[in-house]
Amino acid sequence: MTSTATRPGRAAIAARTLRTDRWWFPPLVTFVGLGAWVTYATVRVFLHDNYWVDDYHYLTPFYSPCVTERCVEEAAHLGRFLPGWWIIPDAALTLPFLLLFRLTCYYYRKAYYRAFWLSPPACAVPDGHRRYTGETRFPLIFQNVHRYAFYAAAIISVINTWDAALAQATGLGLGNVILWVNVIMLWAYTLSCHSCRHIAGGRLKHFSKHPVRYRFWTFVSALNVRHMQLAWITLGTLALTDFYIMALAAGWFSDLRIIN
Ligand code: FES
Repeated sequence: MTSTATRPGRAAIAARTLRTDRWWFPPLVTFVGLGAWVTYATVRVFLHDNYWVDDYHYLTPFYSPCVTERCVEEAAHLGRFLPGWWIIPDAALTLPFLLLFRLTCYYYRKAYYRAFWLSPPACAVPDGHRRYTGETRFPLIFQNVHRYAFYAAAIISVINTWDAALAQATGLGLGNVILWVNVIMLWAYTLSCHSCRHIAGGRLKHFSKHPVRYRFWTFVSALNVRHMQLAWITLGTLALTDFYIMALAAGWFSDLRIIN
């Protein structure tokens, strides 16, 4: 398939686009935002340090569950069964699935296809590539695994919930509030997934015969219209949670305690 700018039958317009608005601004914001987040997360994951606050049992989601030999015992809820090589993230059991979940997410696809791959960067702006093959070929055909990544992400949200509950046993501090807000937002993002909506109410001919699924589908649908916002909010809550716990673990400041 040829580019839309040169496709036979297209009006002979020399300009690459007739848009005169700042169409490049949203992809630029996405590029900067996602690029900054990925850089922060990558650095944090490979620091292998300051992920656990022993006094309050705070564990950052970037290291949960901690499964390498390097992990402190209290943070290794599922055991330390992987070698402590630098290249292996301490949360190697979950991070690949979370990465897959976000990479194949329908919203993130739109975001990075536009901002990074320029395919196309905006409506009525030609593709940045000579050929357009969509998601019908290798490697993008693997975007179809998203529905399976959803199941893994749901299990990981249970693990994050467990982490927040364990930390709760030590009292109540600002760290607990941050952990819970992050967990609630992660659940909202996960449940607002398009695959989850399909699992809830897809292929049903009669909602009236499936009242429980209908109610769940209605709930998920209400979240689903906010999927893009939740995608960004959870990037923010994940980074904030990780940063707060890193700062406590490094001794930069103390946790604000509400109940000891
Ligand atoms: Fe975004 Fe499933 S569509 S997480």
